[in-house]
Amino acid sequence: MDIQLLSILLMLCITDSLCLRCPEQIHLSFGDEHETMVVMWSIDIQIRCQVEYGESPDLLKYSARSNVSELPEWSSNALKYIHKAEVKNLKPGRRYYYRVVALDDNEHAVIRSSVHSFTTLTNDIGKPQKYLLYGDLGADADFPIYRKLEEEVASNNYTAIWHVGDMAYDLTSENGQTGDRFMQLIEPFAANISYMTSPGNHEIPGDFMHYRMRFSMPGIEWPMPLTKMWYSYDIGLVHFISYSTEVYFSHNEDYVCTQFYWLLDDLIKANQKRDKRPWIIAMGHRPMYCSNNNADDCTNRFISRWVKHGLERLFHAQGVDLIIEAHEHSYERLWPLYDEKVYATSYDNPQACVHVISGAAGNVEGVNWMRRRPEAWSAFRDDKTSLYSYGRLTIQNHTHLSFEQVSAQDNSLIDKFWIVQNAHGPFLKDITCEGPNRHESCVCPPLIRYVYLIIGLALGMLFVIFVGIICCFCCWRRSRTKKPKGYVTLHPLNNIEHEHYLVEGADLV
Ligand SMILES: [Fe+2]
Repeated sequence: MDIQLLSILLMLCITDSLCLRCPEQIHLSFGDEHETMVVMWSIDIQIRCQVEYGESPDLLKYSARSNVSELPEWSSNALKYIHKAEVKNLKPGRRYYYRVVALDDNEHAVIRSSVHSFTTLTNDIGKPQKYLLYGDLGADADFPIYRKLEEEVASNNYTAIWHVGDMAYDLTSENGQTGDRFMQLIEPFAANISYMTSPGNHEIPGDFMHYRMRFSMPGIEWPMPLTKMWYSYDIGLVHFISYSTEVYFSHNEDYVCTQFYWLLDDLIKANQKRDKRPWIIAMGHRPMYCSNNNADDCTNRFISRWVKHGLERLFHAQGVDLIIEAHEHSYERLWPLYDEKVYATSYDNPQACVHVISGAAGNVEGVNWMRRRPEAWSAFRDDKTSLYSYGRLTIQNHTHLSFEQVSAQDNSLIDKFWIVQNAHGPFLKDITCEGPNRHESCVCPPLIRYVYLIIGLALGMLFVIFVGIICCFCCWRRSRTKKPKGYVTLHPLNNIEHEHYLVEGADLV
């Protein structure tokens, strides 16, 4: 880089606020191992960067160099260069401090970010863990949830944030400017806690490119490939799974069965360790069920419940305890259910998956109102006070889990419930996924689009046949009731009912 330019930048970087090209949009995520933390940021010039870190804010004596990816041409308004650094070999349960530094050709620091900090995961597997989670969050600084999340993370009570799809509306909007604004808004908390994500429908534009570049998730190469936007991660007593519901709704459909068999393998392995890590919690953006008053993926029972069709049987068979979903801009909690059937109206040792839909963090599209009458599986729902709300998940121990939905506007508690499970494991017992007798839940369901195409063609043919029969019938009837030549309709005076008179030699009317 030009020395003169670097000197100018250095002079301008007396503080972060004056810095023209400071690394920004800093956020964290878990690395492939518990001892690794991933730090990411954006910058608008091509320059080498690194993370400097240590256990004291005054002594950042270690460093980790970053890799860089460049946003595509159509993202002209976004900071172009996205960096990812892996900070490795961290001690468990410790607080680390770090900053992002840009370097000149002589390895001298020319730009420095503020100092941030994070706490590494503990080795104490039984220690209660708390998480923040939500979906559907737009890039508007006036949304009260941003301030609330900053307060929550500053309390140091939480292990991670899970954002279950739909970010910024959209990351690609305004040629990437909206994405930059969103990443700037989450930095005050995402720079201090792992910000874990799942893709939603608003990440689809541009082949998920901004999502795949702006975030890095464990066990996935970076930028995330289209062929694997799903992952799992063990923390304490929980096996977390993030899956992509978008494979069912985009040209990503080729990956439906790739994801399915990855999930099957992952769940089978997780079940082998259920005594040590009993809870399985899965997260995906679009819900399998919901009772909102719209024609959406989860409301239309016969046409578009593709996620339910693709994954519900697998999750039920393998005993997923809790499924967190979003997409609907409201809050809803379901009773334990499978295939429309409610298994219990309590959460004491549920024998089917429990669903929570928390998609009301704050968005430009407003609330999705509920239908008047709830379905039998809907245990609690809120579309009035839930806008700008988020979830707090607490894993108490092997048997107890609690969930709260909280309003960011007035801190009120919208909902709270416990799940008590004394016998974790598959909800379908004694099934095998090996050999010729493998259970149907171990086989990727055929793409529902093809099924409906066949049904649509069949219905179309039936319709044509039906119309043909009706036409034939009408023609036959008309030929039998044809009026004899010479009849004409006259209109007598005084509004007397019309009568037909035979007029010799008159023209037909
Ligand atoms: Fe969505």
